[in-house]
Amino acid sequence: MARIIGGITTSHVPSIGGAIAKGLQQDPYWQPFFDGFIPVRQWLAETRPDTVVVVYNDHGLNFFLDKMPTFAIGAAPSYRNADEGWGLPQLPAFAGHTELSWHLIEQLAAEDFDLTTCQEMLVDHAFTLPMALLWPDQRWPVKVVPVCINTVQAPLPTAARCLKLGQAIGRAVASWASDEKVLVLGTGGLSHQLDGERAGFINKAFDTEFMDSLAANPAWATQFDTHQLIERAGTQGVELLMWLTTRAALGDKVAELHRNYHIPISNTASGLMLFEPRP
Ligand code: DHB
Ligand code: FE
Repeated sequence: MARIIGGITTSHVPSIGGAIAKGLQQDPYWQPFFDGFIPVRQWLAETRPDTVVVVYNDHGLNFFLDKMPTFAIGAAPSYRNADEGWGLPQLPAFAGHTELSWHLIEQLAAEDFDLTTCQEMLVDHAFTLPMALLWPDQRWPVKVVPVCINTVQAPLPTAARCLKLGQAIGRAVASWASDEKVLVLGTGGLSHQLDGERAGFINKAFDTEFMDSLAANPAWATQFDTHQLIERAGTQGVELLMWLTTRAALGDKVAELHRNYHIPISNTASGLMLFEPRP
């Protein structure tokens, strides 16, 4: 059966794409951020996942406010990004894994998750830039399955629902008749707010408590409803739901292998964690 070999959670910010394009990895502003990925890339070189389930939120490239699924999953043979207006170069297309996509869709539907299934899907910076941080040569050695969670337009799924979605993804991968090694990559957060009176809001104390909770007690964040999460993490900080979903897919016990936290990258408290499941 297929195996989830690890989970990586990271922030996503469009300006990372600009820094990559300009080769600013050693620049004093960017270095503390980019250096955080070195141990994660070493781990990837050792463990060599075959496929990545990418849990992320679209920001208006594939879904707009007129049609906003709570949970959407890709089942396309390939995925590409497109101009989001940030002036970033387009990255090479990502090979989809339609067999795993449809297995996940079947299993999740059987567990009462009502998914929007996408046989065509553009992927935005939240998908492409974390992938480029993991594989800087952009010759993706993996197939991908995008799982998209609405954090853009109210009402959002609750933290409790995202935890359950992640647990169901974990069970679905474990029931897939394949010997593939699967990585779950969750992108978003940590605390940030791009708009309104609190634009620029960052909450290090909350981010730290959230990261601390993930290993031993991932249900910690489910004590907060959406408004309480936004109050603590900011309107876009609620993207931390991707971290929760990813962590939940890994099962009850995990080891935290790596963590980096740096303030700010653009307007965001940027975090990075690497987990391995433990029996
Ligand atoms: C920023 C952060 C995001 O999560 C995003 O999607 C866009 C911009 C930022 O901090 O600039
Ligand atoms: Fe975002």
